[in-house]
Amino acid sequence: MKESRKRRDFVRDVTVGVVATGALASVGLVNAEAQAGGAKNFPDFPTLTAKKFKSVEANRDIGKISAKTMQMHYTLYQGYIGRVNLIRSKLQTVSLAPADANQSYSDIRSLKVDLTFALGGVKNHEIYFSNLGTGETTQPGDALLAQIVKDFGSLEKWAADLKATGIAGRGWAWTAWDADERRLFNYIGDAQNTFPIWNATPIVALDVYEHAYWLDFGTARAAYIDEFLRLLDWNDVTARFEAAVRK
Ligand SMILES: [Fe+2]
Repeated sequence: MKESRKRRDFVRDVTVGVVATGALASVGLVNAEAQAGGAKNFPDFPTLTAKKFKSVEANRDIGKISAKTMQMHYTLYQGYIGRVNLIRSKLQTVSLAPADANQSYSDIRSLKVDLTFALGGVKNHEIYFSNLGTGETTQPGDALLAQIVKDFGSLEKWAADLKATGIAGRGWAWTAWDADERRLFNYIGDAQNTFPIWNATPIVALDVYEHAYWLDFGTARAAYIDEFLRLLDWNDVTARFEAAVRK
């Protein structure tokens, strides 16, 4: 029943699109017609839901990172998911008329800019929670270690650079695989959505927003980063690296 209604909506949406596209003199007209019929701008977006992570599910202190920090952190992550779903729902009915789009302020601008922050918040945290182990000692895989040595000189130099990048950043530091240059690099981020590099896949996400460490480390961000590096689940990082290289 639900499926057939979905299909009816899809057929109706496509039909509206085809009729309107025939006279695409004005994109605004397309949107106005679609909205007059109660149609959405796009096919449905998938609804994001919160994933589970062993570092959170453990519900206990992991090294010097407390269970309370992890639980609060996870709540923030759930908030980002809620915002992504909300923004996407609003994009379904926002005006696409050129006259309504404006670079100083417009609904579509606000939604699209804020979507990058919210969706960045989801993706960054999913890597972060997944990167954090539960205290077990792990080692980087052979291919990953060889790549780190090639691109940074040694594992210690990679760690020193990521630590400095994390101290210098205002939100994030990432180790990412650049598929164009076929190399790893530690990138800096001041927010959930700043300084992205196209065609680079993050394999380590280090959260340096205060909420990630204030409760347990106060202002000692460097000590928090040391603990993050100590707790890093190299099995997760290695799997991410191997998947990124295969792409
Ligand atoms: Fe965070």
